[in-house]
Amino acid sequence: MDSIIVKGGQELHGQIPIAGAKNACLTLMPATLLSEEPLTLTNAPRLSDIILTMSRLLESLGVEVSSLQDGQVQVLSSKSISNHKADYDIVRKMRASILVLGPMLARDGHAVVSLPGGCAIGARPVDLHLKGLEALGAELDLRDGYVHAKAPKGLRGGVFEFPIVSVGATENVLMAASLAKGTTVLKNAAREPEIVDLADCLIRMGAQIDGAGTSTITIQGVDRLNGATHPVIVDRIELGTYMLAPAFTGGEVELLGGRLDLVEAFAAKMDEAGISVEATKNGIKVTRKNGRVNAVNVVTAPHPGFPTDLQAQFMALMCTADGTSVLEERIFENRFMHAPELMRMGAQIDVQGGTATVTGVDKLKGAPVMATDLRASVSLILAGLAAEGETVVNRVYHLDRGYERVEEKLSACGAQIERVKGNG
Ligand code: EPZ
Repeated sequence: MDSIIVKGGQELHGQIPIAGAKNACLTLMPATLLSEEPLTLTNAPRLSDIILTMSRLLESLGVEVSSLQDGQVQVLSSKSISNHKADYDIVRKMRASILVLGPMLARDGHAVVSLPGGCAIGARPVDLHLKGLEALGAELDLRDGYVHAKAPKGLRGGVFEFPIVSVGATENVLMAASLAKGTTVLKNAAREPEIVDLADCLIRMGAQIDGAGTSTITIQGVDRLNGATHPVIVDRIELGTYMLAPAFTGGEVELLGGRLDLVEAFAAKMDEAGISVEATKNGIKVTRKNGRVNAVNVVTAPHPGFPTDLQAQFMALMCTADGTSVLEERIFENRFMHAPELMRMGAQIDVQGGTATVTGVDKLKGAPVMATDLRASVSLILAGLAAEGETVVNRVYHLDRGYERVEEKLSACGAQIERVKGNG
């Protein structure tokens, strides 16, 4: 397994291009199952999750996947679905695989999909995906670790209120409702930009959807959907991650393609911390004035609140802030695994359940640390940029799932960072 070595202390100056959103692409790719005509996704991120895992899953269902321009263009064509079973051995590698359930059910009236199981940050149940599909008339049977779904007379429009906001469940049901007979109203729907991007793509394919991005989405089902070409929205989590980099080191970095409207709550917290964030014609420029950043409190929430996917990265910054900050993780039950690793670097963090209290120290010290999930991995790299000495982040395969070529993007701005090939 590869490791990444970071030598701290270099100011960052330069530009970082922001890629297409992993979490948008992971729901846009399954949308191809809704149409017999090809779906072309441009601005796709070059990530192992996308190119390897989701592509393999879709190919196992009979979808032809062509990856062009070094992975930035994905052409997906499902003239027919030759296999309606998504096997556990693929699904367990990536939870987003559950997103083939709604489209297959809507297209052909039946699907068998492995339950994804949990992951490091939580149990990650899919009960809301299933309840939402049942509201559209799906008949579901859970046995031997699989969801056996049927809709012999096709799906029909229905009204469903999500008891809690769920990004994936909203995506699954939104895709299914696009081909259901009649009108569907989704209440307490997720409002993430990736939902809006999915709706934009479905509308390009001929779907009739109103209200994406608000808590109430209305879908008028259609008989069939056409092919389309759709540009994947920029990745707001990669954007937020790299906006933080100069906040650790000092300097000035421009994030090419960055959109402030996608990260408003996050940018407000950066401003509170004393970091300058401004829109430019090419994206977003972040400048860290000298001196320490201010300690800032954070509570994660569904969009438009502070994203849980940026909590670990922001906590890493608060480790050397001037004062004490309290971070509350309210989306996932176990998303502080970066804390003990940051403490190995000298951070002072007290974790009580879903609340972490961080007391800023002058400097972190480089150390060998272990990544446990995608966002924890990158928070350790960010911490290493400012730490004294050398930080070795191990198990970076997590990182490659969500960040394309992180060492290239950071070293282009002056970071001393390199990847060391692991054995095996
Ligand atoms: C998506 O996961 C993202 N993944 C996550 O990003 C992100 O953290 C999350 O949304 C929240 O924004 C992708 O888009 C591929 P949820 P998802 O359903 O859809 C509970 C990353 O780092 N829940 O909004 O799985 C759930 O346990 C990843 O890129 C149920 O109880 O998240 C959680 O506590 C990590 N039942 C809360 O809802 C369900 O059926 C929010 O989960 C579904 C979810």
